[in-house]
Amino acid sequence: MSGVVVEQFKGDLRDLMPLFQLSTGCDKPAIEKLIRIEETKGTEYGVIRLGGQAVGFIGIYIDENLGVRELEQCQVIDLAVLPEFQGKGFSRLLMDWAVNKVKAAGERIIWLYTGAASERNVAVYTKLGFELKAVMPDFWGEGEGKAWFRLEIGAPQPDNGIENS
Ligand SMILES: CC(C)(COP(=O)(O)OP(=O)(O)OC[C@H]1O[C@@H](n2cnc3c(N)ncnc32)[C@H](O)[C@@H]1OP(=O)(O)O)[C@@H](O)C(=O)NCCC(=O)NCCS
Repeated sequence: MSGVVVEQFKGDLRDLMPLFQLSTGCDKPAIEKLIRIEETKGTEYGVIRLGGQAVGFIGIYIDENLGVRELEQCQVIDLAVLPEFQGKGFSRLLMDWAVNKVKAAGERIIWLYTGAASERNVAVYTKLGFELKAVMPDFWGEGEGKAWFRLEIGAPQPDNGIENS
């Protein structure tokens, strides 16, 4: 993993379609809409490239444009790593990049949501220091709840007492 870096994505977000599909589970037309929304909001994307291929990405929304952070907290919008590159610590690198963005903006709370039924995602976000705060049952259909996670940057980790930086 040494030498792997997260770079700020500056191109056309539609070029990251496979990663958006992985992150959202949506089809192309829905993702096109989603991208337009995130572009309007000013969501920033970090990407890991290996040999020219985008293998992982993260989207972080920090409301700097409208100056109404009191209304909208920082939020991780997307996170995905291509299957053949999973399990190598890439999502941790991507999350570190997003956390640093939020810190640089003077904020320290990040929210994100995922499917409550996804044991893997719940495990990954817990490992990345997030705490499960709420589940909205049946949000996407019966048995498909929406789980909200929150990270307080710099707070002691509940499971091991280590401070995240
Ligand atoms: C979720 C996802 C982004 C994780 O990416 P990844 O690069 O494989 O994750 P990492 O290798 O960085 O692992 C991060 C931590 O989660 C843990 N982890 C990874 N996969 C895990 C699994 N299946 N079960 C339990 N823990 C897991 C790792 O051990 C690591 O913790 P550690 O550093 O304390 O050992 C990736 O599986 C993915 O793209 N999934 C499909 C898209 C998706 O569902 N995105 C989330 C949308 S909300």
